[in-house]
Amino acid sequence: MTDKFVVFRMNIYLTGATSGLGEHLAYEYAKRGAFLALSGRRRDKLDSVASKCEELGAKVITYCLDVTDQHATKESIDDFLSKISNIDLVIANAGYGFVDKLHKGDPTELNKVIDTNVNGVINTVVPFMPSMIKKDMGHIAIIGSVASHFAWPGAGAYAASKHAVKALSVSWRKTLPKNVNVTLICPGFVKSEMTDSMGTWAPFMIGTEDGVKRIIRALDKKKKMFIFPLIWRLVIALEGPISFLMSKSFRENHKKNRNKL
Ligand SMILES: NC(=O)c1ccc[n+]([C@@H]2O[C@H](COP(=O)([O-])OP(=O)(O)OC[C@H]3O[C@@H](n4cnc5c(N)ncnc54)[C@H](OP(=O)(O)O)[C@@H]3O)[C@@H](O)[C@H]2O)c1
Repeated sequence: MTDKFVVFRMNIYLTGATSGLGEHLAYEYAKRGAFLALSGRRRDKLDSVASKCEELGAKVITYCLDVTDQHATKESIDDFLSKISNIDLVIANAGYGFVDKLHKGDPTELNKVIDTNVNGVINTVVPFMPSMIKKDMGHIAIIGSVASHFAWPGAGAYAASKHAVKALSVSWRKTLPKNVNVTLICPGFVKSEMTDSMGTWAPFMIGTEDGVKRIIRALDKKKKMFIFPLIWRLVIALEGPISFLMSKSFRENHKKNRNKL
């Protein structure tokens, strides 16, 4: 009698796969032979990440879309669900940071941050819920930030968006069946296109691959929340006095040049 091999591929839907954390999460799960649905807005980047994932052993499907587009995102999810028997992991990673630039008095970019980082997560996760509830299984991972806990000066919209996804993850965890896991990942600074664009101020920065390995370990353990690196847990615990000092120094620095507030 021949042995019967059961080939188990994790089915994973991942947004923001074209760079940074998302790109490297795709490579790590590709090494495990996952079936990956990858999305992002840049077609060329999406194609190159997808072919590298295939070389690493994954089966890949790509969706070139903007996560703020509810209908395009839902269509991609319906398409992926039609190709798989169950969804194992959804990673709502797409997002970006922006400095408020309050002196301009223009809410446009602040609204965009909220739309991408909050509505983008809702558009990505909610359409998977009926299937997860029905099958009583699945894992939702939301990429929050240490800014889910801490609002530093100059980036109010970003902090608001990350506080909002923390609230969503806490509520969804309490609402969904117990076998549907919800993890909020809260990175400090990790090297990526986003942190490259921020200039030099990025304390306790870690490398992308290091960050991604830590994220995957937390997801494997189905942690409810994971704040890393460790130093940020201390910073969050001391939020009151640190915020006071940061705000004082921010105002001092910008006293002469209010056009940077
Ligand atoms: N790196 C850090 O230090 C850090 C710290 C805390 C939290 N985070 C969070 O980690 C996540 C990933 O960021 P990252 O650091 O890896 O930055 P990144 O290299 O800039 O990657 C951001 C990804 O999100 C995608 N994206 C952005 N807006 C999108 C939209 N409207 N629709 C679809 N995709 C969109 C981008 O793809 P396209 O441009 O191709 O669309 C890209 O793949 C974000 O949620 C970020 O807030 C990062």
